[in-house]
Amino acid sequence: MTSTLLTGISELVTNDPGLGRGKLGIVDEAAVVIEDDAVVWVGPAAEAPSTDAKHDFHGRAVLPGFVESHSHMVFSGDRSEEFAARMAGEKYTAGGIRGTVKHTRQASEEELRANMRRLLDESLRSGTTTVECKSGYGQSVEAELRSLEVARSLTDEVTLLAAHVVPPEYEGDTEEYVRVACEEIIPRCAPLARWIDVFCEQGAFDEDQSRRVLQTGIDHGLTPRVHGNQLHQGPGVRLAVELGAASVDHVVHIDSEDIEALAGSETVATLLPGADFSTRNAYPDARGLIDAGVTVALGADCNPGTSYTTNMPFCIAIAVRDLHMTADEAVWAATAGGARALRRDDVGVVRPGARADLMALDAPNHLHLAYRPGVPLISSVWQAGRLKY
Ligand code: NIG
Ligand code: FE
Repeated sequence: MTSTLLTGISELVTNDPGLGRGKLGIVDEAAVVIEDDAVVWVGPAAEAPSTDAKHDFHGRAVLPGFVESHSHMVFSGDRSEEFAARMAGEKYTAGGIRGTVKHTRQASEEELRANMRRLLDESLRSGTTTVECKSGYGQSVEAELRSLEVARSLTDEVTLLAAHVVPPEYEGDTEEYVRVACEEIIPRCAPLARWIDVFCEQGAFDEDQSRRVLQTGIDHGLTPRVHGNQLHQGPGVRLAVELGAASVDHVVHIDSEDIEALAGSETVATLLPGADFSTRNAYPDARGLIDAGVTVALGADCNPGTSYTTNMPFCIAIAVRDLHMTADEAVWAATAGGARALRRDDVGVVRPGARADLMALDAPNHLHLAYRPGVPLISSVWQAGRLKY
């Protein structure tokens, strides 16, 4: 076992208030010792123990790797024309999902895996070291199984998005598709996933249909997470709370009762401002949520329709500029918040026992992630104790 001392850290964000200042647990002039894939020591550089090897960050800020708790990386096809049409005034209706279903069904498993690998690589270069990935562009037993196989070959956090859109063969008969999802897709696919998700939205699946999908997933050992209140006010948030979902995602069109329900629950509100940016949607009421005591996560939501970005610093910049989150809140939400949304305590933090997932910034502190939008500040990334970039 080799121990490595990471030193020359101007500011270390640990996300452990027991280790440093504030909610981000900041330690100035810090050092970290890693052994194999784990962090074994954190503290002021002056007190660091001796180790076998040493890595000098030369005065950079170091943070936990970002935890992306919402992505749709198993897909094929391009929807840039749909994006361009939206920017020219068309509304996002989620109808484009059907086009991605068509292309994804036609693609080979190797093509899907290569595409997801490319997007994970992109994520890693921008500091993301944990990624949840959903199926949902298959919407048949065979195509969902294939999507989940691809996802689980590349990440541990796999979500069966059994009801994302009604596929063409059930057009006009949402009830029949929900029956197929509950009686065929979920029973066959559940062993390949950890989470069950549904798109609870006008024009997608209503409250009763969403409840049936999620409950069937729960009955098959999965834990729910929900796409809710993205495009319209609706029942998604309250359904997520009712079923004890780990997270409800988007939460743009919410009211004070939704905020109250979330505040009294264990359900994380995951904000995906990249999707709101690329669909010209409203932005969620992050202040209302945070001030009410709701746990907020931030995700990039990489998908070909609403948010074709893997870049968490971009989302942090929007969260600070347009959602009025402080930089501290946004950084926490993109690291520890994502970990909460995935019910993980080994990532999104830098403390003894955590997985050694770290990034260094070409900057003296974490504020620069919002202060220098669009600038590639991530200078190196360590995943499970290995220097990746
Ligand atoms: O997270 N809202 C539903 N699902 C995705 C978008 C899917 C798509 O447009 O392809 C989302 O925004
Ligand atoms: Fe999504």
